[in-house]
Amino acid sequence: LATVSSYRPDIESRTPPYDKLLSRLKEVRRVLGNSRNLTLAEKILYSHLDNPEESLLSNTDNGLNIRGNANLKLKPDRVAMQDASAQMALLQFMTCNLPSTAVPASIHCDHMIVGKRGADVDLPESILGNKEVFDFLESASKKYGIEFWPPGAGIIHQSVLENYSAPGLMILGTDSHTPNAGGLGAIAIGVGGADAVDALVDAPWELKAPKILGVRLEGQLSGWASPKDVILYLAGKLTVRGGTGFIIEYHGPGVDTLSCTGMATICNMGAEVGATTSLFPFSLRHVPYLESTHRGSVAARAKAISELPSLQNLLRSDEGACYDELITIDLSTLEPHVNGPNTPDLSTRLSDFAIAVKTNNWPKSVSAGLIGSCTNSSYQDMSRAEDLVKQANAAGLKPANDFFVTPGSEQIRATLERDSTLATFEEAGGIVLANACGPCIGQWTRTDGVKKGDNNAIFTSYNRNFRGRNDGNPDTMNFLASPEIVTAMSYAGSTAFNPMTDSITTPSGEQFRFSPPTGAELPVGGFEMGNPDFLPTAGTRSPSTQVVVSPTSDRLALLDPFEPFPKGDLKGLRVLYKVTGKCTTDTISAAGPWLKYKGHLPNISANTLIGAINAATGEVNVAYDFDGSTSGIPELAQKWKNQGFEWLVVAEDNYGEGSAREHAALQPRYLGGRVILAKSFARIHETNLKKQGVVPLTFANGEDYAKVDACDEVSTVGLYDMLKSGGDGEVSVLVKKAKTGEEITLKTKHTFSPDQCGFIIAGSALNLLAKMGRS
Ligand code: F3S
Repeated sequence: LATVSSYRPDIESRTPPYDKLLSRLKEVRRVLGNSRNLTLAEKILYSHLDNPEESLLSNTDNGLNIRGNANLKLKPDRVAMQDASAQMALLQFMTCNLPSTAVPASIHCDHMIVGKRGADVDLPESILGNKEVFDFLESASKKYGIEFWPPGAGIIHQSVLENYSAPGLMILGTDSHTPNAGGLGAIAIGVGGADAVDALVDAPWELKAPKILGVRLEGQLSGWASPKDVILYLAGKLTVRGGTGFIIEYHGPGVDTLSCTGMATICNMGAEVGATTSLFPFSLRHVPYLESTHRGSVAARAKAISELPSLQNLLRSDEGACYDELITIDLSTLEPHVNGPNTPDLSTRLSDFAIAVKTNNWPKSVSAGLIGSCTNSSYQDMSRAEDLVKQANAAGLKPANDFFVTPGSEQIRATLERDSTLATFEEAGGIVLANACGPCIGQWTRTDGVKKGDNNAIFTSYNRNFRGRNDGNPDTMNFLASPEIVTAMSYAGSTAFNPMTDSITTPSGEQFRFSPPTGAELPVGGFEMGNPDFLPTAGTRSPSTQVVVSPTSDRLALLDPFEPFPKGDLKGLRVLYKVTGKCTTDTISAAGPWLKYKGHLPNISANTLIGAINAATGEVNVAYDFDGSTSGIPELAQKWKNQGFEWLVVAEDNYGEGSAREHAALQPRYLGGRVILAKSFARIHETNLKKQGVVPLTFANGEDYAKVDACDEVSTVGLYDMLKSGGDGEVSVLVKKAKTGEEITLKTKHTFSPDQCGFIIAGSALNLLAKMGRS
């Protein structure tokens, strides 16, 4: 096996471009004036601006009200992609005909691996079942110089923390828990594949300047409380929407009392409150973590920068910097929390949990305990859980239910194996799953007899607990807690158990009570690298590599560039569907079984809008053609596409809310959708539509929504001129009523920037890039 001493990562590509960032910070200071105090998040973010002057002074009162207003055009340092979302990102990247990615990038095969009977059986089965996807990702990685982490190597966020994250770095990741890397002082943002492609092709990535929520940590955790409890508590306080539009910046004397991996856990779950990202300042606790993960030189450089005078200091906030909101948490008095079921913000103190179980009639017994995942599989997490297992073993106890352990990476797994931690779990009856997402993302085939429809409670150290997420059973209630609490609950088997105060009766009839868990922050013997087959491929490109996509595949299909915009206004578009109520990215492009087709645009397009409610009839996914015949929405869209008719969708407020899923924009475009006319849009989806060449327009008068119906014929007026002039000018739509032939003109609004006009004219953002000669 490879050993620590034989592993030599490419440290240059893993070191943030500090010289460039420091000089960009100087430029930011020049634009804003040296007297402006900046938070840490602002310093790192603004130091990644393509053109600080343009971004910081646009849409702002001469740079005075940047947060919430400025459109930041950013140049991230690195991109990380997981296997499910990497497919479409790479397929889009390939349409640009570039020889390599513009920034270092990595792909992590973690989402498509099941958790069932243990790593030895599950991993080979999953590799076989997804072979063509993994082959595609590996061959494309080789061709374009992307580091490829094969199935079994680890979960994206754990691997990024162990290898790439660093203080001051900016990372885009095609997964919502990318902010995990903020535990190591990086600005790490979860995005859709199309956004990742911006960075991969060296195009600026746009972000509305976030507001900053400061969380001041005081005191020190003790006993049963763990870093997970900080974010479980905060989620209860903020709710799932409370962090929207904010970066959460942790600070205060409590920071240095936390381990680096503990900080990562806290940042990971910032996604659960909707935050753009979360981050911690550089801390001396980062140094041993960086050193033990082969990045001593990064630690030394970061430490030196953190000691620079304030004006030049990239890694600390300025004295007197203001937060838009401030929350203080006293770690010394923080209790363990349990969050759930079905939403991560339903937070209950452990000491109140037994009462909550009774009051809410939640299941009395625990049906399974699952620890690990990208959120909680650090050496510290696992060694504290191990301590509890050893205590229970010594008392003659076994877990009362199935107990699963998911190591976050091969590095962690091999180290835990060497230090006998895994043996302790296995001897107790625990099942060690592959180093992959498995049960966290629904890849969990239960073998404990719990069937769909069975009401049951599981305890997990994961981050999300929406209905059906883990085992596909909407009646499984997932209660989120620290690995320590999950482990203790698994021994009691009772949801009303409080390990801080309650005892368990041992087989010999004695009363056993756990002592508070203890563990090591880092392994004394250093980290093992484990199976050399799980090391990443080098990030050097091999241009002659053939990217493997079978023309007969139903999982992958190469993308054809979309047609450019016609030289004039759009005429005779048909209203495919008038949606009423919420229309999220899930409504537009459902997940679940469709995840399988993420790399095959024609196949996944068969789910387009299948969750949408028909405004005229209240039916879901029932569309009406001119002759009154009905079909599913994607079927009608495909029929019209075959007949040569382009179409539009009419919708209500916040169209496309939910996620950055680019399929929700790509699919309508693929099926012939040209315009979405809505009362309002979710910002990220509106941008995604423009990137894929679909025109988002809003009703100038929201009541006009009532004047358009399915099958009406719509032509744009002024759209082409507006696009040609870079966003200036008004656009209206001429609606010819299908039933009466009457014509009405409705005023619309749009939010096109000059760049975005270019996307539409070229047919898509990628077409424009290819045209601009970056090939
Ligand atoms: Fe994977 Fe679950 Fe994390 S799906 S990336 S382990 S949130």
